[in-house]
Amino acid sequence: MTPYEVAIVGTGGIAAIHARDLATMPERARIVAAVDIDPGRLEAFADQWDVPLRFTDLDHMLDQCRPDVVHLCTPPGLHRPQAIACLDAGSTVLCEKPPALSLAEFDAIVAAQTDTAHFATVFQHRFGGYARHLRELVRTGRFGRCMAAVCNTLWFRPDEYFAVPWRGRWDVEGGGPTMGHGIHQMDLMLSILGPWREVVAVADRRARPTGTEDFSAALVTFDDGTVATVINSLLSPRETSYLRFDFEIATVELEHLYGYDDSNWTVTPLPGHEEEVRAAWAEGAGGGASGHAAQFHALFDALNAGVVPDVTVQDARDTLELVTAIYASAFTGERIRRGQIGPDSPFYQRMDGSGAPWANTEAPSALTAAGGRS
Ligand SMILES: NC(=O)c1ccc[n+]([C@@H]2O[C@H](COP(=O)([O-])OP(=O)(O)OC[C@H]3O[C@@H](n4cnc5c(N)ncnc54)[C@H](O)[C@@H]3O)[C@@H](O)[C@H]2O)c1
Repeated sequence: MTPYEVAIVGTGGIAAIHARDLATMPERARIVAAVDIDPGRLEAFADQWDVPLRFTDLDHMLDQCRPDVVHLCTPPGLHRPQAIACLDAGSTVLCEKPPALSLAEFDAIVAAQTDTAHFATVFQHRFGGYARHLRELVRTGRFGRCMAAVCNTLWFRPDEYFAVPWRGRWDVEGGGPTMGHGIHQMDLMLSILGPWREVVAVADRRARPTGTEDFSAALVTFDDGTVATVINSLLSPRETSYLRFDFEIATVELEHLYGYDDSNWTVTPLPGHEEEVRAAWAEGAGGGASGHAAQFHALFDALNAGVVPDVTVQDARDTLELVTAIYASAFTGERIRRGQIGPDSPFYQRMDGSGAPWANTEAPSALTAAGGRS
């Protein structure tokens, strides 16, 4: 089969991972075009990855060529207009997380999809072998019902991290560790446990020079009654990404930082169930690491089969809605149900609703949220 033609838009940090992983599958895809408003970065990227067509303007690229897939690797505030432009031009879009700054923006993207131009979000942790296997074990009930879950994204980012102009701003990044970092673990948790029902949460800006939160904590109740504790932090010196599921006959844990393979998972059987739990778990061994490459393979498989690629808009919206609900609960003090945040809610338009509680107070450090000295 002819390789799919791919364009990369935004040639910064994460684009290098996209290019590196696409280079491992030349029979499936080739990068035909790159776009960045920074000509120096564009040229360096295109030279390194041997990209023939280079543009400093997305519309110009879409006029000149019609890639099968556009990988959006730009800052979050650009995802909505750029995704809609690509979908209107007939290209499928694979968009970096977060897919949009708000549910309103996300719904506008969804409305621009067609039968052949799809929108998929990069949530690469869904695609590791053991994540797929665990979803199957849950679907078939082999470990019993889930009783409790833990979902921690305890990371550390120093003040300097916020010096990049688009970081730490609701209007460009859409949030702090809840929206930008913990969204990966929360998405993986939702892919395993299914729909969430309601959330109560707190969020604060405790230490960093940012307009967004640098810490949040939530209690998320799922449709089946499972309750998960969720913490998203940029203030944690021992960093970890940790998920734990206590099923009736086994505890399953995943501990990693930015990606995992089989060795990052542990399973602990309930005494008396050792053999059946170990046998069920062993069936999933060797399914591969998480990461962009695994998601790209799934995307090209879906395009070959003519089906909607993962992560679908419904799945990505469920995750984005949970993030929105965490902010809404934290800033209003209310318990928020899934489906409650509709177009009439300020949180539908912006993740901080009508404003974070600390919006009019000085950031904790000498650096302002925009990165300059106050
Ligand atoms: N999936 C992951 O694990 C992961 C990891 C890191 C970042 N990300 C996401 O990837 C996206 C980009 O993050 P990054 O760290 O690579 O950012 P970055 O700042 O390193 O790169 C962004 C690039 O976009 C370019 N750009 C800005 N405006 C543009 C425009 N109008 N048209 C074309 N290019 C434009 C910039 O010049 C820059 O080169 C963000 O949404 C981020 O959350 C995802």
